Amino acid sequence: MQATLLRNPFVVGKYISDHYFCDREQETQFLTKQLENGRNVALISSRRIGKSGLIHHLFNQSAIWEQYYVFFVDLYATNSLAELVYALGKEIYEQLKPIKTQWKEKFFQIVSSFRVGFKLDAMTGSPTFDIGLGDIQTPLTTLDEIFQYIDEADKPCIIAIDEFQQISEYAEKNVEAFLRTKIQQCKKGQFIFAGSKRHMMSQMFLSSSKPFYQSAITMGLEPIPINTYTQFVKDLFAEYNRDIKDEVVETVWKQYDGFTWYVQMMMNELFVLTSEGDTCTTDCIATAWKNVVLSQEMGYRETMNRLAPKQKIVLQAIAKEGRARNITSAQFIKKYHLNSASSVQAAVKSLLKNEMVTYEEGCYRLSDFFFAEWLANVF
Ligand SMILES: Nc1ncnc2c1ncn2[C@@H]1O[C@H](COP(=O)(O)OP(=O)(O)O)[C@@H](O)[C@H]1O
Ligand SMILES: [Mg+2]
Repeated sequence: MQATLLRNPFVVGKYISDHYFCDREQETQFLTKQLENGRNVALISSRRIGKSGLIHHLFNQSAIWEQYYVFFVDLYATNSLAELVYALGKEIYEQLKPIKTQWKEKFFQIVSSFRVGFKLDAMTGSPTFDIGLGDIQTPLTTLDEIFQYIDEADKPCIIAIDEFQQISEYAEKNVEAFLRTKIQQCKKGQFIFAGSKRHMMSQMFLSSSKPFYQSAITMGLEPIPINTYTQFVKDLFAEYNRDIKDEVVETVWKQYDGFTWYVQMMMNELFVLTSEGDTCTTDCIATAWKNVVLSQEMGYRETMNRLAPKQKIVLQAIAKEGRARNITSAQFIKKYHLNSASSVQAAVKSLLKNEMVTYEEGCYRLSDFFFAEWLANVF
């Protein structure tokens, strides 16, 4: 699949191909096996570990795309069922567009709610998907039609729904129950539900009172092992006629607990700092860090600007602590000159709600590691 060599092989924010993707072999196999056995999977882990990447990687395997139609819908920015329906319909249409199949021809016939958007491109004469969110008047009906359509497919379909927990925030009632029924009845579609809000995802799939209870195999995602990742980095450096000391990769990996996004960001920058024929050593880490973090600084300042003063102090206290325990204790309050236990509690509640802070294993930490370092050391 590899076309031309990328200028920088440490890719962040998109999936290119196997070549620029590290490991995840077992996870890919596991997912493939579950799907082949007709099971749905709920993929649950913290943000920026590599869930979405793993799904794109899975979809890029010939064993998958030869056998299935694959669709990927990200619900992160959606707030209503209409938006989900819109995203799903559009994704199906866009994916099928380049494919020659009888099934495709039935799209507007079965999903009749979308017919308003059926237009022929004036230049090419091929159909286009020209509908707006406002065109979805009765989302339940349209969703029904989309599921009917999927069941007419000439191959099984895999539908990955990313940031799935978002549906529990929709204003409409019973979206979960409705979707669950549709998914259960769907014969040609199998589902991967990915989500970063662990607590919400676990509730949805593991709590017996919830519609999605036991409807999927749950799967966690751990960081890529340090040795595997180190070898991946060294190989890519070597391919570009550069070298990097193991300890550089190991130091960075440890600094960010192996969270893929941060580590890849740093490797991308460390690669920039290493000329052809040179070796990247630990001396480069500080400069790389500065370049990465300072490129984000404007956003950080804006975020701080928007926060209430009480939230700001608590956020900075947590950032300075790294992983903060007992944040309402007299000791913590004294150490960071905070007001009172109740004000800390109120502030942290808001910070958790807007996802600036994450609570894990009895500790509070900033969700964004770079932001945390900036807030503790630069701000
Ligand atoms: N196995 C991998 N090898 C290389 N880069 C990866 C890998 N997994 C993820 N990434 C990169 O790390 C970043 C974060 O991964 P992502 O899949 O978006 O995390 P999540 O969906 O868990 O929040 C992405 O920008 C992606 O480019
Ligand atoms: Mg993701």
